[in-house]
Order: sequence, then C-alpha cells, then structure tokens
Amino acid sequence: MEYGFFNGQFIPLESASVNLEDRGYQFGDGIYEVTRVYNGKCFALDRHLARCRRSMRELRIPITYMDEELTAIHYDLIAKSGIKDGTIYFQFTRGTAKRTHAFPDQVIPNLSMTIHESTPNRQWQEHGMECLLFEDLRWLRCDIKSLNLLGSVLAKQAAHDKGLQGAIQFRKDTNLITEGSSSNFFIVKDGLIWTHPTDHLILKGVTRSILFEEIIPQLGYTVVEKAFTPEFALSAEEAFVTSTSLEVTPVIAIDGHTIGNGTPGKITQSLLESYRKLIQKECYQA
Ligand code: PDD
Repeated sequence: MEYGFFNGQFIPLESASVNLEDRGYQFGDGIYEVTRVYNGKCFALDRHLARCRRSMRELRIPITYMDEELTAIHYDLIAKSGIKDGTIYFQFTRGTAKRTHAFPDQVIPNLSMTIHESTPNRQWQEHGMECLLFEDLRWLRCDIKSLNLLGSVLAKQAAHDKGLQGAIQFRKDTNLITEGSSSNFFIVKDGLIWTHPTDHLILKGVTRSILFEEIIPQLGYTVVEKAFTPEFALSAEEAFVTSTSLEVTPVIAIDGHTIGNGTPGKITQSLLESYRKLIQKECYQA
C-alpha cells in the first residue's frame, strides 16, 4: 500500500493533506531527496542524508531530525507499506506560517515522506534513451536540491511533447551542457569520461559520487570534469545519464542526432553492470 509520513505520523496517502500556508506549498521553500529501496533495503541512504543536511544548511532551514530517525522512518515506511522495490520521496519545508517572504520566526520545519512501488526502467537501460536538448532555465543554485523544479518540469515536458524520454540542459549564455532534467549527464570521448564539474550549476548526484568513488577507479577509467558544448557531445562515442531512479542509463540520441553507433556504449554498459553489482552486494547479500 502506498504510504505517507507527516511530522511524526504514518498515514495512508489518500488521507494526507497539506496546510495551505506551508511554505513549501507557497514558495517552494524547502528541499527534498529521492532514495531507492531494493529488496526492502535502502540503498546509499547515508549519502542522501548527508546531501539533505547540506541543502538545509545552505537554505538555513533548521535541522530537527537526526539521521538515525530519518533512517528509522524509511524502514518503518517500507514495513508498513510492504513495498520491497520502490522509491521514497521526502521533503523538509521551512514550516507553516502566515505568508511573508522573509523567514518567519520560530517555525519548525515540516517533514513529509511518501513511498511508491517502482523499479528502474530496464528497457531504457538496455536500449538507451533519446533526449532533447533544452535551454537550462533554472536558478543559479542547482547544487541545492530545492523544491523549485519548474526548469526541470518544463524541460521534461518539452521532451515528452516530442515523444522523447529525457532532456539534456545547456546554458544559453555559455553554450555549455549542465545536466539532465533530473539526472547527471556524461559522455565518453576518445575513451575518457566527461562530465560537468560540481559547482553551482549542477546537483552533485549520489549516483555520480558512487560511480566516481566506488566504480570508476576500479574499472580504471579516467574522468574529465569539465563542461562541454552540445556540438562536442554530439561527436562523442557514448553518452549516459545517472540518477537514483535511472541508475546508469545510456543516451543514444540527442536532438535527433545519433551518439556513436546509436546503441548503448561499452563503457556505459560496464558502469551499469558494476553499479548493479554494488546494489546486489549492499541490498541482497548483506
Ligand atoms: N533527481 N541532477 C538533478 C537536477 C536531479 O534532480 C537529480 C536527481 C540528479 C541525480 O542525483 P542522484 O544521483 O542523487 O539521484 C542530478 C531525482 C531522482 C528526482 O528529482 O527525482
């Protein structure tokens, strides 16, 4: 059963409601995380909790839950819902207060969480995604996982309107690719893995960090953390995106231009295979 949690209470989703003056609702004043559950176990939760704390610090939202409590709520949601493979979404908003832009005094952040059944899209992982190139319209603090997602919403919808699976965003002023609409973007060019550096223009993905720290060094690949143009990307041998939901998913075409030979590349496939092995080790064998 799909289940929710709000400020200390577990509730079936259909009976949950939002206060009209929640600042998340009125200002998008909050942060969120999406975590994955495999075989009833949370994957990479510590990394998500660390990023959650960072996002809250950057927005000066007080931290009112310990990591241990958030972990316990994750496992309670899994138990209550009976969901073994799914995603958990959680968000902290600054709290509920009469509407005024500046921070209200003495409010306690609202924590809400939901769990849904889901599995990664194996079809896309096997055959690759076709993506649209779309102007990055977001604000200049994309390193914070804030609730303001209009840029990503418009990018994803523009892709869907064209029958494509995703969008790759680029900044118009510099003509440089940043990331996917809700994923990090990579290319393989002359055997090297290229991706945007982790500055204020992209989110430092948990999946990206796992690849960089636990997978790429073992496989002996080299990474170039440097922004590149759409034209450069189109001349790549391989392209792929990473996220909690997509894991590692090949991109085989951008704006109708085939990448490499139009099938998932070898390096991309090896990264996905190693990522899956890591999930196996952490969630199935432990
Ligand atoms: N999105 N970049 C953006 C803009 C994202 O929204 C996400 C994640 C990522 C990848 O981060 P991670 O590997 O930690 O999932 C990169 C989540 C899944 C979402 O919005 O649903």
